Amino acid sequence: MSNIGNYDERYKSFNWDVAKKELEYKDGDTINIGEYCSDRICRLGKGEKTALIWQGNVGQTKKYSFNELSSLSSTIASFLNELGLKNGDRVSLFLDKVPELYIGFLGVLKMGGVAQPLFSAFGGESLHTRLEDAGTSAIITQKKHIGKVRKIINDLPELKHIILIDDDKKKPLREREIAFSMEEATPATDYKVYKTTAESPSVLHYTSGTTGKPKGAQHVHYSLISQYMTSKYVLDIKEDDIYWCTADPGWVTGTSYGIIGAWSNGVTQCVLDAGFKSESWYKFIEEQKVTIWYSAPTAIRSLMKDGKEVADKFNMSSLRHLCSVGEPLNAEAVIWSTETYGLTFHDTYWQTETGSMMICNYPGMKIKPGSMGKPVPGVETCVVDLKTYEPITKPGIVGLIAAKPGWPAMFRSYWNNKEVYDSKFKNGWYICGDRASIDEDGYYWFVGRDDDVINTGGHLVGPFEIESALLEHEAVAESAVVGKPDPVNMEVVKAFIALKPGFEASDMLDLNIMNFIRKKLSPLAMPQEIEFVDSLPKTRSGKIMRRMLRAKEWGEEIGDTSTLEDD
Ligand code: PRX
Repeated sequence: MSNIGNYDERYKSFNWDVAKKELEYKDGDTINIGEYCSDRICRLGKGEKTALIWQGNVGQTKKYSFNELSSLSSTIASFLNELGLKNGDRVSLFLDKVPELYIGFLGVLKMGGVAQPLFSAFGGESLHTRLEDAGTSAIITQKKHIGKVRKIINDLPELKHIILIDDDKKKPLREREIAFSMEEATPATDYKVYKTTAESPSVLHYTSGTTGKPKGAQHVHYSLISQYMTSKYVLDIKEDDIYWCTADPGWVTGTSYGIIGAWSNGVTQCVLDAGFKSESWYKFIEEQKVTIWYSAPTAIRSLMKDGKEVADKFNMSSLRHLCSVGEPLNAEAVIWSTETYGLTFHDTYWQTETGSMMICNYPGMKIKPGSMGKPVPGVETCVVDLKTYEPITKPGIVGLIAAKPGWPAMFRSYWNNKEVYDSKFKNGWYICGDRASIDEDGYYWFVGRDDDVINTGGHLVGPFEIESALLEHEAVAESAVVGKPDPVNMEVVKAFIALKPGFEASDMLDLNIMNFIRKKLSPLAMPQEIEFVDSLPKTRSGKIMRRMLRAKEWGEEIGDTSTLEDD
């Protein structure tokens, strides 16, 4: 029997008090995600249970019990306090998927800090933008990434501490740098967790929009209520599960469901700190006896490309439930997974801003391959008219996905950008920025984004960041960045460039520009292709019409350009 039982009945009868009761939380109590994911589980008598199974890139493994999770996260919290950091300070985790990332995340929350995870492959510029905007006080990192931090530190006066978790003492540390070893530090006994309450800031995740720099979606400790409950109902997480979320905590899936979801439920989760390879993933499932697997369409399409034959070499009979997030999960991938694993990938839809799942497929509910499913219990969604923002009641009509504010994990602001935050709410709805339709049975069908953001392999890339990097190159007069179709990543980044007088388009120049921006951006944001053009299509007011370039790439009708000109 699944945790959710009959979806329709659960949806009708559910309210968030159910989750609060299970978590023994009453309005006004202190609520600290770090505490809930570690100390509380120990108090429930599960301290000896394995919390984390970690495997590194050469196959080395480490295991941590909930007792260790509790003690080590307190040790980190106490160390941060000793440095002078206090509640509300932003502490960035700029780490590979090492145990310190997961345990450090809880440590930052336990001391009342705001955890700011940043993808370790970020280049200098991506890193700088996010640390500067957040006024980050400390960054926890590794030897292999400290070079990128050192290059930008002079421009970041607020960044007072660079904490190195794997110092080998071979080279002297520099100003503001300090070594800290989680395993060797004197354990903090009796650490007093900071008494955060429902609305205390918890996590800051940067996400890209069409215009301006990436924005920090600011979450609060109360988000736990949604993350705990959706892990139960959607991921169907149960006491004896071995849960694997493949996402990096640099992105929201990797924190909401790669840290908080399983641990707040007192369930074992595993982490594979190695790049994607079908064989290694299957071997990991086989060896760790993974039961629940939460992944993404790009990974599933890559597994599909390698074929069923590869999957058949492994014993993955431990698996019992599969979920996917981040991009449209095409019907073929759903059908293929059923044929290959004997289990169907359940699509889930949500965003950095929503903090938790919104529209999903549930165990036991009929799946329509290609549909994102139905709203999560406790969440009210609809599609609204593109212009009036009135809910559309007729099936099959495309509108904007909207959600009624009030679910616990909803973001509370964009850091330093209340104005843009406020602009996301229209007619009493939070507007997600995606287009979809709802069929006669209430199933949601994704159509596409309502802005110019590129979704490549599940990662949102804002054109502005790449265009700005391109414009810094001496030969580039103008640029426009759009997504073009790709069989595995759904979209990849393509840059159109108009050159300054005196520069000639050539393969050499293409390479030179690529190398120039590579140092500034994350590998995920790198254009796969540059096309040199004489000029870029523009509106009458001079704004570049990215959508026209995009439509050409996708072989779509460009349509009425007068509306494009108004954008
Ligand atoms: O466009 C939607 C797409 O990813 C966006 C959110 O991206 P991000 O904030 O990085 O969070 C990703 C993980 C929660 C959405 O606005 N997206 C997410 N899930 C789906 C999806 N598109 C189609 N189907 C999905 N299941």
